[in-house]
Amino acid sequence: MRNLIHLKDLGSDGLAEVIEQAMAWKRSAPGAHLRDVLLGMLFFNPSLRTRASFEAAMVRGGGQAMVLEAGKGAWAMEHRDGVVMDGSRPEHVREAAPVLSRYVDLLAVRSFAGLEDDAVDEADAVIRAFGEHAEVPVISMESAREHLCQGLADVLTLREKFGTTRNLPVTLTWAPHIKPLPKAVPNSFLLSAAAAGCDIRVAHPPGFDLPPSVVAEAEDLAAATGGSVSLGNDQAAAVEGSRAVYAKAWGPTLPVVPASDGATGASDHAPDPAAMIQAHPDWRVDSDLLSQSAADACLLHCLPVRRDLEVSAELLDSPVSAVVDQAENRFHVQRVLLERALEFNHPHRSVA
Ligand code: CP
Repeated sequence: MRNLIHLKDLGSDGLAEVIEQAMAWKRSAPGAHLRDVLLGMLFFNPSLRTRASFEAAMVRGGGQAMVLEAGKGAWAMEHRDGVVMDGSRPEHVREAAPVLSRYVDLLAVRSFAGLEDDAVDEADAVIRAFGEHAEVPVISMESAREHLCQGLADVLTLREKFGTTRNLPVTLTWAPHIKPLPKAVPNSFLLSAAAAGCDIRVAHPPGFDLPPSVVAEAEDLAAATGGSVSLGNDQAAAVEGSRAVYAKAWGPTLPVVPASDGATGASDHAPDPAAMIQAHPDWRVDSDLLSQSAADACLLHCLPVRRDLEVSAELLDSPVSAVVDQAENRFHVQRVLLERALEFNHPHRSVA
């Protein structure tokens, strides 16, 4: 079964096709292209935009969506093979995925990173289990490694604002938060921007590196598209002359180990990830920082955003903020993804 979980499932050509189709359908809506289609949406984690935009895309396309919340109304779910299920999860993905597949045409799943070990989160075991065991195409609504839909909406936003993403200088900057957050959104912006040919700069404090496999994948994409990837710890330098500044909080490189073990930390005791996050309030994104970017630069953020912690309220309320456009564009790219996923089962399907 073909799925839409990672950017690799589309590639840079697929990304370009999705963006073109989303722009066309934004100008001229496709009508009831999802008539008689039922989307099953399974959430392991909360959502505002993802749930609302997928439901809106289904209803406006003439289809319907069914929402289930694992562990809240629906049974809590185990995904690991070979475990004795004597804990708090009575349902296994091996049964749940094919059972749901008998009721729906497409299955969308949201399952966040566990935030204990980057290698485990990069492996993306929960959504891969759904992809393996479902009998209908699976669409990611954010998994441990990537947030495919968000990355596509981000590129659509850049394309609309600047006409082209080819060698567009854009910056992804780490931002402060009260707690460690998953890396799926920064991973997907890095991958999508590289696949779209941007010159992407990533800035974060030491100890907050993005996963090596994601960086390597982005570098390969950039090499193929003529874009570039640069990484560093200097926020101001990364923003200079940039056309878009993407603010995003994410957690430290995990597991955090003591300095004496050769990694992050200032003592023999492993630092607390929350304390590491809170040690960099000066990384907040505000108009002073944006003043170092290009004159027509925009602010990006996937939302939800903590005002005056991650990004200043005055910047979010200013005309440079494109965060609501980004959220709207989730709807437009997802319309296209739903259509593409249906074509996996019905290759001769065509939309009038
Ligand atoms: N950006 C995003 O995925 O928003 P939600 O978590 O509200 O769905």
